[in-house]
Amino acid sequence: MARRLLLLPALLVAAALAGGAGAQLSAGFYSSTCPTVESVVRQAMSQAVTNNTRTGAAMLRLFFHDCFVNGCDASLLLDDTPTTPGEKGAGANAGASTSGFDLIDTIKTQVEAACPATVSCADILALAARDAVNLLGGPSWAVPLGRRDATFPNSTGAGTDLPGPDTDLDGLVAGFAAKGLTSRDLAALSGAHTVGMARCASFRTRVYCDDNVSPAFAAQQRGVCPVPAAGGDDALAPLDSLTPDEFDNGYYRSLMTGAGLLHSDQELFNNGALDSLVRLYGTNADAFSSDFAASMVRLGNIAPLTGAAGEIRLNCRTVNS
Ligand code: HEM
Repeated sequence: MARRLLLLPALLVAAALAGGAGAQLSAGFYSSTCPTVESVVRQAMSQAVTNNTRTGAAMLRLFFHDCFVNGCDASLLLDDTPTTPGEKGAGANAGASTSGFDLIDTIKTQVEAACPATVSCADILALAARDAVNLLGGPSWAVPLGRRDATFPNSTGAGTDLPGPDTDLDGLVAGFAAKGLTSRDLAALSGAHTVGMARCASFRTRVYCDDNVSPAFAAQQRGVCPVPAAGGDDALAPLDSLTPDEFDNGYYRSLMTGAGLLHSDQELFNNGALDSLVRLYGTNADAFSSDFAASMVRLGNIAPLTGAAGEIRLNCRTVNS
């Protein structure tokens, strides 16, 4: 009993830390200091996605990769310096795998013109990811705001904390649990792969070696992605070949026919614990939309810097001097 009482304060502190930081964010954070921020971001995203739908996918991926490394603090957006390697060249970010940094710069310039030194790069990224989803046909949601920007990157974390395309289901679940996310969040957020592209280097093993891949789909992808000796690492294929540019539930319908492009995708539907959620999302677009929106808010709540922590960066690529 005494031991339990001793543990109680520690548990309360842990609970406050886990929920507390995210709980300090609020959708109206800039309502008096920068009331136009949401429309500035939305307009820039609308123009960018109209010109090239892939920029929407790029924003969504950047948000995920930022939040999984030290929390949603725009640490991913920092360029390398002569003394400190950034996150852009590390782990799953390396090899031209992430893009869209120029678009963030464009939006940041417009936001600074409207409200100087007020809105963090981390919040701009959270809004851009939400708008990307909605502009591509997916749901919208109120984005809790008030994040501040990191003053240093974590390139080691980018190497260890981001899941790779060969990760199995246990590894994916563990990687999400390490960030306070559930396997339901994993199933819903993976639906982001309803848009965007992957490089041959990310799906070659899957289409040549996996035994749970649809034979017709594998043959089609092998046409895009040659054997290693023939090069072609950067050849691209859509992550959702059914409806590549639409934010819908096509990704889950692909998984149900063995046409997941990445090994990690098909792990969600491989006679395991998440099969039933894949079936739910694949057959009920509304269930997917509402779970995806809720999980994006939880993703955005991972360890934000708030209050006096961090800074409001003036240029998303560098810390303020
Ligand atoms: C569950 C574990 C995940 C793994 C293993 C994974 C892995 C990958 C890989 C390997 C690529 C292709 C990269 C390349 O070949 O250049 C990719 C692309 C992408 N990922 Fe994920 N991902 C995961 C989860 C997520 C989540 C949670 C999101 C967002 C919420 C996301 C959004 C995207 C998007 C939108 C693209 C396409 C980017 C583009 O076209 O530029 N992914 N992912």
